This record gives sequence, C-alpha cells and structure tokens, in this order.
Amino acid sequence: MKAGMKAVQFSGYGGPEVLHVVEVDAPHAGAGQVRIAVRAAGVNPSDWKRRAGRYRDFEDVAFPSGVGVEASGVVDEVGPGVSNVAVGDAVFGYGENTIAQYAILTHWARKPDNLSFEVAGGLPVVVETASRSLEEVGVKSGETLLVSGAAGGIGSAVIQFARLRGITVVGTASARKHDYLRALGAIPTTYGPGLAERVKALAQQGVDAALDLAGSGIIPELIAIAGDPSRVLSVADFAAPQYGARFSYGPPKDPEQVFAHVARLCSEGLFGLRVEQTFALEQTAKAQEVSATGRVTGKLVISIA
Ligand SMILES: NC(=O)c1ccc[n+]([C@@H]2O[C@H](COP(=O)([O-])OP(=O)(O)OC[C@H]3O[C@@H](n4cnc5c(N)ncnc54)[C@H](OP(=O)(O)O)[C@@H]3O)[C@@H](O)[C@H]2O)c1
Repeated sequence: MKAGMKAVQFSGYGGPEVLHVVEVDAPHAGAGQVRIAVRAAGVNPSDWKRRAGRYRDFEDVAFPSGVGVEASGVVDEVGPGVSNVAVGDAVFGYGENTIAQYAILTHWARKPDNLSFEVAGGLPVVVETASRSLEEVGVKSGETLLVSGAAGGIGSAVIQFARLRGITVVGTASARKHDYLRALGAIPTTYGPGLAERVKALAQQGVDAALDLAGSGIIPELIAIAGDPSRVLSVADFAAPQYGARFSYGPPKDPEQVFAHVARLCSEGLFGLRVEQTFALEQTAKAQEVSATGRVTGKLVISIA
C-alpha cells in the first residue's frame, strides 16, 4: 500500500513560483473511483488561471491545493462499486490533483495499447470540451464551422471531430501554424482585422456556426459572420451571453462515453493529439508559464516516471 508520494501543490494564489513539489500521503479511491500510478498529466490553461486566482469569485480553492484535472496511468487501487477496470489496467481520464505520482480518477476509459501515456494524459479536457462545444452549438454534417483559436488543444480536437462528422472547418491561427491546421483537415486563415472578408473568400457557401476558443473579444464579429447569435458559442469569453451567444463551461457531458469513443478513434488511427512539449513533475511551474503564453500548439504534458 502506497503511503507517501510527490505531488505539486500551491498554498496561496500567485505566479508560477508558488508551485512546489511536496511529499504528501497518497490518496485512496473512494466509491466509484480508481487510483492510478500516474504516467502523464495534461497541462491546461485552467491550471495557471486557477493558481493565479482568476477563478476565485466563483470557485473555492482549499489550500494547500493540488494541481491537475486529467491524467493517464495504471490502476493500482479500485474503489467500491467499480467493476469495469482492475488493478494493472492502463486508463486515462478526469481526476483530482493529477500532477502527482498517484491520483484519483473520477471518470476514465481504457487506454489503447497503441496510444502513448503522454498523449492519453493530455486528451480528457480537450476531447470532452470539444465534444460538448460541437453538440451545444448544434453544427451538423454538410455545414461550415468557423473556429477561432483552432491550433490549441481544444481547437485540435474540434477540427478532428468536426471533420469526422462531415463538417467543413475554417480555423484561425497565426500563419506559421497553417500547415498544422491543414494537416488536421481545416481551412486555415489568420486572426485579426479583416477576418469576415477572409472567411467569406474561403467559405463562399457561408458560415453556419462559430466557436470562440481563444477568448480574444471577437464575439460580435463571430455573430456577424455566422448571422445568428444562437449559433455562436465560447468556452473562453465570459462576456459571450451579453451578445446573445452562449458560454459553455460544463459540467462535463458524458465524459466516459467521450473518452471511450476517442480511445476507439485513436486505436483506429482516426484521431490524434500533438504533444508540443513534455515536462518533468519538477518543471510544472515552467509548463504553466509556457501555457500562459497562449501560444501552445496541441498540448503540454507532465511526464511522471
Ligand atoms: N469552458 C470550458 O469548459 C473550458 C474547458 C477547457 C478550456 N477552456 C478554455 O478554453 C480556452 C482554450 O483552451 P486550449 O486548451 O485550447 O488553449 P491553448 O491550447 O493554450 O490554446 C493556444 C492556442 O491559442 C491560439 N491563439 C491565441 N490567441 C489567439 C487569437 N487571438 N485568435 C486565435 N487563436 C489564438 C494560439 O495560436 P497562435 O499561437 O497562432 O496565436 C495557440 O495555438 C482557454 O481559455 C481555456 O481556459 C474552457
């Protein structure tokens, strides 16, 4: 039975310097949970935003607080009521304080053998958010979707899901990322002034819906392009509802179903996630600094030996 472990924690809001690797007791799996020996944990913008206190008006953080909401690893403890996995199974999913040697998962799927722990550990947040956003904006086969902020983690997943559903995607990113967007199946364009004209030239059939993943304050522009506020959804701009557009923040929608679906797609080579950089547990502060630049292509992952 595991007693002590290394974990990343912070004891007050602040910059990356408030993050420390500490020795703590390993958690135990409660009802409906599993504990994993973590192999990789995704780094999300929410990690540094939470650490910096950006969520303090609507989310309580009990200090000292752990870090990380997703991971992949090997099950080493199964909680009461769990029958779909056993000790020794490789899984990935949503969890608590996952940037640690051991962590609790609350929702998971089995990791296919041909999927690396690094990629699997970075999948949960982006695939659940992408899947939920596409469903809530209601875009269908044959329609055209504009994605603002298409080269990040969520954008990479949105493009692939949308293309698999027969949706045409126009995605924005800086010019050096256009080959990346093309490889995922999107029609790339730059962001900034003149977006409506560029999109019109690329999608002469018009745009049916738009997703704002960058939170760059362009909701009115996206509404003008899509022609209907109810077909514009943001996951990054709390002001979206002021304009009649939607803001989606969860709760997670059928995460285990989404994870299992993505696991199948990955095992068939139909879905992937670019891991731009991996970091050691001790480099979590550096990873959050890179995340906070807002320039990540695909995903950042903490790799845990
Ligand atoms: N509401 C929810 O349920 C939920 C869930 C998860 C995440 N989120 C939020 O969703 C947002 C995206 O998350 P993510 O993990 O995809 O972020 P990410 O991976 O950090 O996104 C980075 C990407 O954003 C692009 N970008 C930056 N500024 C841009 C702009 N003005 N226009 C277009 N693209 C721009 C960058 O491309 P360039 O380098 O080319 O600029 C970069 O490739 C974050 O704000 C996150 O907090 C919300």
